Amino acid sequence: MIKVGLLGCGTVGGGVVQLLRANASYIEARVGAPIDIARVLVRDPNKERVAELDRDRVTTDAAAVLGDPSIDVVVEVMGGVEPAREHLAAAIAAGKQVVTANKMLLALHGGELLERARKRGVDLAFEGAVGGGIPVIRVLRDSLASDTIASLSGIINGTSNYVLTRMRQGGLSFEAAVKEAQEKGYAEADPTLDVGGGDAAHKLVVLSMLAFGARLDGARVSTEGIDAVEPVDHAFAERFGFVVKQLAVAKLKGEGPSAPLELRVHPALVAEDDPLANINGVLNAVAIEGRALGPCLLSGRGAGDMPTAVSVVADLVDVAIAKKSGVSGNMTRAIRLGDRHLAPMADVEARYYVRLSVFDRPGVLAKITGSLGERAVSIEQLVQQGRGTADVPVDVVILTHEAKEAAIQGALEAIGKSDYVARAPRMIRVH
Ligand code: NAP
Ligand code: HSE
Repeated sequence: MIKVGLLGCGTVGGGVVQLLRANASYIEARVGAPIDIARVLVRDPNKERVAELDRDRVTTDAAAVLGDPSIDVVVEVMGGVEPAREHLAAAIAAGKQVVTANKMLLALHGGELLERARKRGVDLAFEGAVGGGIPVIRVLRDSLASDTIASLSGIINGTSNYVLTRMRQGGLSFEAAVKEAQEKGYAEADPTLDVGGGDAAHKLVVLSMLAFGARLDGARVSTEGIDAVEPVDHAFAERFGFVVKQLAVAKLKGEGPSAPLELRVHPALVAEDDPLANINGVLNAVAIEGRALGPCLLSGRGAGDMPTAVSVVADLVDVAIAKKSGVSGNMTRAIRLGDRHLAPMADVEARYYVRLSVFDRPGVLAKITGSLGERAVSIEQLVQQGRGTADVPVDVVILTHEAKEAAIQGALEAIGKSDYVARAPRMIRVH
């Protein structure tokens, strides 16, 4: 029997308990032994849990799980950095196999934990940490190990994608859409991590660790959330043939093991015929560009109890097989990390969508185009919607040609300080 210590039994932990019960005989045949959830660590022992949980196994004492020598595998689905990091380090030190879905922990301490696991000869598996049920970790770690990954672009926060979709297609307010995502179990305990872009940034670090072999513990990814996207941005995006999506982008900038990486998370205008534009609701997708492979798109449900449980239990099956076969640690040994720098945002080159709220006075457009032109930012399209006055602002929306981020930021700073704008300019990068 493979004995499991489950740290956390909330949305994902509950899904793990249910999936292990539902597929028990199939999983036993696959592993060659039954998997038994021996101990379950929670904060509140009296909370209602999934019916499949044996409540006699529930404890609030971490030592009862981590100090139990009969436990073979520790599955961490409690979230947060501490005490999760401390518990995983203790489990690894005790020679237990480890599975986690905790992207925040991996983004901050993944390199350190992988090193601990490698030295101790145990596996640290984390398919559930990115993309919910999409097998993107295995693809980057194993299937594409022969290729150089040039870039990856993804919709990797289910909550943000759900909120943007419900705002655009259902006409919901931002607040109402976030509430729905929380009720469906998609959001983090602190949903500002989702809508502020922090969760996607954590996942981008985890993906980049595997895609580029980069040690990125605590890397500061340039991050913007979806909280500033307004219904009018969806309408203008559609008019220009785009859809607004929250994207996470990683690019290799150059050749060789020390080439820097461009990592960024922000809302983006995605052309409506791009496959990413049609990834809606809680679906996630990761578009990978391999130098030899070319494009590869992985998509599926990116959040929620059962999709994430599929990945967590698949990891559990893998590490249980490794344990029984006496080959633990091979999965972790396959991940080798080296240092890489992040390229500055000022060097990013993109097309830009700019929305200005300006007073409708003679000569204003000339001043705007002048500010852009002085910095070599060329305009592709310009629309003024409606009729303002000298005191009532009107929306002017500009799509630029390819320009340097430093140039557009400089122009927007100058425009933002001028007396003809009613509020700070809004900028969204075009993917
Ligand atoms: P959740 O519903 O809030 O569940 C967290 C569980 O951990 C709860 O059972 C909680 O106990 C327990 N817990 C938290 N801190 C604890 C502590 N200090 N000591 C003991 N128990 C503690 O969270 P979740 O949505 O399942 O997410 C869990 C992890 O999976 C997070 O790292 C999250 O980022 C990740 N993840 C979530 C999803 C998703 O769709 N939800 C998808 C992929 C990855 P109580 O129940 O007693 O409060
Ligand atoms: N809160 C996360 C999301 C859960 O919405 O994508 C999946 O990691």
